[in-house]
Amino acid sequence: MLTPNDFIVPLFIDEGEGVVTEIASMPNYYRRSLDGTVKEVKELWGMGIKSVLLFIKCKDELKDNTGKEAWNKDGLMQRSIRAIKEAVPDMYIMTDVALDPYSSYGHDGIVKDGEIVNDPTVEALVKMSISHAEAGADMVAPSDMMDGRIGAIRQGLEGSGFTKTGIMAYSAKYASCFYGPFRDALDSAPGFGDKKTYQMDYANRTEAIKEALMDVEEGADIVMVKPGLPYLDIIREVKNAVEVPVSCYNISGEYAMIKAAAKMGWIDENKAILETLTSFKRAGADLIATYFAKDAVKLIS
Ligand code: PBG
Repeated sequence: MLTPNDFIVPLFIDEGEGVVTEIASMPNYYRRSLDGTVKEVKELWGMGIKSVLLFIKCKDELKDNTGKEAWNKDGLMQRSIRAIKEAVPDMYIMTDVALDPYSSYGHDGIVKDGEIVNDPTVEALVKMSISHAEAGADMVAPSDMMDGRIGAIRQGLEGSGFTKTGIMAYSAKYASCFYGPFRDALDSAPGFGDKKTYQMDYANRTEAIKEALMDVEEGADIVMVKPGLPYLDIIREVKNAVEVPVSCYNISGEYAMIKAAAKMGWIDENKAILETLTSFKRAGADLIATYFAKDAVKLIS
């Protein structure tokens, strides 16, 4: 049985006021300025949804190779966290931690000589996480896949007195073609190459378990498997291997496929939504990040 409590709602936030943009490859999903985002969060809370996962679209002129806008106290992410906390104090705020929206190269890490450099990126992610915690985030969600970042972020948070801030680790994040629509939403497609040097090979099963166990060891409170639908086997294996809650991300491409087929009249959208989301629970997901959360809550209530 699905409940509103199962869902994490990803939100795309834009600068400006009164800005609402439908994502071209994600019909009926929007990027909103902060005013509209706050209204949306109030509505979600009213529907019984308890957690949101924030992503921001960074202005081009603020992007560079260091990603330093990511830890700007007055950056769009930090302002959003504060505004949402003020408007709906009990909404559980998770924040995306990765450099891609801030990177002039569209990569999740800092680039040197055409490669992503792990350790300097981890330092940047620690600063980013602390600044989200300072703004009031309940949980940071590193989606970058650098090595050793969970331990470093945990240490950084504790060192700054944020002993209660949680970490949801994207532990098993595969290099997937299904992220395409998301990259449209944030204008964050990699400028060169792909993400295969840091995201996982989709043919690999055992690495997912190793990564999840390592992240728990390093201090993760929740471990995530991503994408969702093509990786139900991995969700189950991770669930069997760890003692912490497991989440999965029903990602943008999975959303787009259902929307497109439904628009063509080839499947029943509502049935497809419920069947898909139920399959994640069956596989073992305790939490599901999904663009279908509102639809699902309407369907089950
Ligand atoms: C990047 C990030 C991605 C998503 C969440 N964080 C895409 C990527 O790795 O390029 C994808 C989410 C989705 O497709 O819905 N840090």
